[in-house]
Amino acid sequence: MTSHDPATMLAIGDFAARAGVTTSAMRYYESLDLIRSMRTGGNQRRYRRAELRRVAFIRAARSIGLSLDEIKETLDRLPDKRIPDRADWQRLSAEWSRRIDDRIAHLRGLQEDLDGCIGCGCLSIDKCTIYNREDALAEEGAGPVRGFKPL
Ligand code: FES
Repeated sequence: MTSHDPATMLAIGDFAARAGVTTSAMRYYESLDLIRSMRTGGNQRRYRRAELRRVAFIRAARSIGLSLDEIKETLDRLPDKRIPDRADWQRLSAEWSRRIDDRIAHLRGLQEDLDGCIGCGCLSIDKCTIYNREDALAEEGAGPVRGFKPL
């Protein structure tokens, strides 16, 4: 038997229980091509056990606030013709660490801006970096632009 043998694959209910997600979440992830199934002759979904790692990755990524688009972009870099191995997942993990660092830096910036806004409350569309962070700063150039000035 191979890992593609339907007899070794999991039905959606069994897979969802092992993955810790609902069957509706499974169908949704599949509709976004985040996970893949095969169909039996009776058109029932069957999942390779290797897909469990993809669901675990999705859940972990969601827990740190990555969007499903970001997750898909990452998962799309896994090999398509074979089951991803440890090195493949470690490569994604390294990239993930950089994203987490970026997110932490972004949140720290927001926290500093929020500190400046406490007590102000103006929510000025021109001046407040919390209220209108991206639009107001877009004219100052590409990339992160900071420079909150208290009123
Ligand atoms: S509330 Fe943010 S600058 Fe006033």
